[in-house]
Amino acid sequence: MPSQPSRSSKSSNPTLKMRLFITALALWASSAVAQASPPIRNIYTFPPNHFIENIAVRSNSRLLLTSMSVPHLYSINPLASNPAANVVHTFANPNNATGISGIAEIRPDVFAVIVADWDLFTTRAIIGTLAVWTVDFNKPASQRVKFVTQIANSTIFNGIARHPTNPRLLLAADSALGAVWKVDLLTGASGVAFSSPLLTPTATAHLGINGLKAEGSHVYFTNSAQGFLGRVAVDWNGNKVGAIEVLSEAADAGANVVYDDIALDLTHGQGKVWVASHPSYAIGVTLPGAGQWVVNNTTKLLNPTACAFGRGSRKQEKTLYLTNGGEFLPDFTLVNEGVVAIDL
Ligand SMILES: *[C@@H]1O[C@H](CO)[C@@H](O)[C@H](O)[C@H]1NC(C)=O
Ligand SMILES: *[C@@H]1O[C@H](CO)[C@@H](O)[C@H](O)[C@H]1NC(C)=O
Ligand SMILES: *[C@@H]1O[C@H](CO)[C@@H](O)[C@H](O)[C@H]1NC(C)=O
Ligand SMILES: *[C@@H]1O[C@H](CO)[C@@H](O)[C@H](O)[C@H]1NC(C)=O
Repeated sequence: MPSQPSRSSKSSNPTLKMRLFITALALWASSAVAQASPPIRNIYTFPPNHFIENIAVRSNSRLLLTSMSVPHLYSINPLASNPAANVVHTFANPNNATGISGIAEIRPDVFAVIVADWDLFTTRAIIGTLAVWTVDFNKPASQRVKFVTQIANSTIFNGIARHPTNPRLLLAADSALGAVWKVDLLTGASGVAFSSPLLTPTATAHLGINGLKAEGSHVYFTNSAQGFLGRVAVDWNGNKVGAIEVLSEAADAGANVVYDDIALDLTHGQGKVWVASHPSYAIGVTLPGAGQWVVNNTTKLLNPTACAFGRGSRKQEKTLYLTNGGEFLPDFTLVNEGVVAIDL
């Protein structure tokens, strides 16, 4: 989810002063790594006004994309010579669904998605409309989609992930409340698992905890407003264990960097977390939290919102797919939203 790409470039933005201040800090605190830029390929560009929000990849290499502007779940075959975006499902009722935010695989080829009636200007759901659904690709199309539960009192589930060990729990980043929710995928019961001042938005930037992924015993996340990548251990029930660790700071990668959603690559080499970042970045943070490999490309990376590694072959596993939220024209028409591939 973006930190308002429509406004972040405007000088009237109250965060500008803060960013100028951060610039000064970044000059001495910078740990950004200068490295050659890898090639970036366009995979698919959507027609105007399809704000592309999140991505998950199926084991058969297909990319699943969500849009906050339309209630369609899209599937794209990145290996096709001329990839097309096919609508897997259109979410309609209940609750006036207008778009989809988070997506995560919860069992082999079964994906949870967050559907709501979104106010795109505030990036909040109309209260009472936020819902969790699952899409099961093991089943025929007519039986694929299942309603799990309605979330009565959250205005945003942003990044979501299945709990790293407990298959029944879905974890969700509430960017407004500054909390991680848990949803029992079997019963639909939901509630806040934990909250922290390190998960909240700020007075000037309204998306706190944003990207969320889980692996090992930890939940990895970004806080867009506070400008950092962090992680925290969780127990079987999703409760926070110990303190939140800050792994990297957006300001260290560049003065205007706003972290969005993440992809984990913890098993290769030292391990990295890739962070899709506004307005033009893909950033590989080497763990344990030090160097940041900053890929900066203002023609191919257009408000990146999320990223995920390919699947299905060794080559795909080295390909990072990034969703571009798109660019706003002066009349607020959104253009150039889509998905690109970085061959790492
Ligand atoms: C952006 O990516 C394209 C495609 O890989 C490349 O041709 C171009 O040189 C890159 N621009 C910068 C500034 O690196
Ligand atoms: C759906 O939209 C209709 C028409 O605007 C409205 O009356 C209704 O309350 C909405 N439902 C929900 C759950 O927001
Ligand atoms: C949501 O509503 C329930 C029931 O009123 C309440 O117990 C819970 O604290 C609320 N949670 C949040 C995050 O507001
Ligand atoms: C990224 O590239 C743009 C365009 O060349 C430049 O204005 C910006 O300062 C660069 N960002 C960093 C962190 O170097």
